[in-house]
Amino acid sequence: MNKAKRKAVIAGNWKMNKTPAEAKTLIEGIKPLVKDAGCGVVCCVPYVDLSVVLEAAKGTNIGVGAENCHWEKSGAYTGEISAEMLASMGVQYVIIGHSERRQYFGETNETVNKRVRAALDAGLNVILCVGESLAQREQGITSELVALQTKIALGGVSKDELKRVIIAYEPIWAIGTGKTATSAQANEVCKTIRETVASIYDADAAEALTIQYGGSMKPGNAPELLAQPDVDGGLIGGASLKPDDFAAIVKAAD
Ligand code: PGA
Repeated sequence: MNKAKRKAVIAGNWKMNKTPAEAKTLIEGIKPLVKDAGCGVVCCVPYVDLSVVLEAAKGTNIGVGAENCHWEKSGAYTGEISAEMLASMGVQYVIIGHSERRQYFGETNETVNKRVRAALDAGLNVILCVGESLAQREQGITSELVALQTKIALGGVSKDELKRVIIAYEPIWAIGTGKTATSAQANEVCKTIRETVASIYDADAAEALTIQYGGSMKPGNAPELLAQPDVDGGLIGGASLKPDDFAAIVKAAD
């Protein structure tokens, strides 16, 4: 597997943080620090911040993403936002299946698949999240679970569409806890995901797929994680809210 064939992407996941005014300050802080990045840089932000962040990121190397989308184009789904709506604003990315959506908002592998399909149909790039809980890791079912999550999420996605998918491996026990997977643990599961993708499509598709690690990635641990052969970037929560930390992780990916 040739890492050089893949594009490293560092994506921030701002989660439920930052008002529009605060979002403007944050994106303006990030902009100059990442302008010479050799890797892809994406900021995924709350819906209400999209307009201001899109405007600020215009003409820069920063891609803008949302943190979820609904699978229908429109209709009686109070409180939901469709992939079409995001695409119409100029949003380029959307995170799907984040463990916080699965854990707190009833997201299932099946609804993840519907959202992935809708996002791809709307022309968006998808950051698809998979990962195990601590109990699942201790039970020894991480590989099977992550392979299953990957297979179901990618149901009905063509090899061509897969070019617009990034998979983020995020062990739930490492998210926001300060506990990072060791680089060997991170690489092992990213490799399993790549093998799973190879089994669904083929070796070429798997080799071209960008696979991120996420879960307490920080400037201190990013170089070692990103040096792993199957880790092609990061999905960054807490550290993406600090311009210097986010930029240091971007630099580590270059
Ligand atoms: P964290 O979050 O970096 O704060 O652990 C990562 C994520 O949930 O995407």
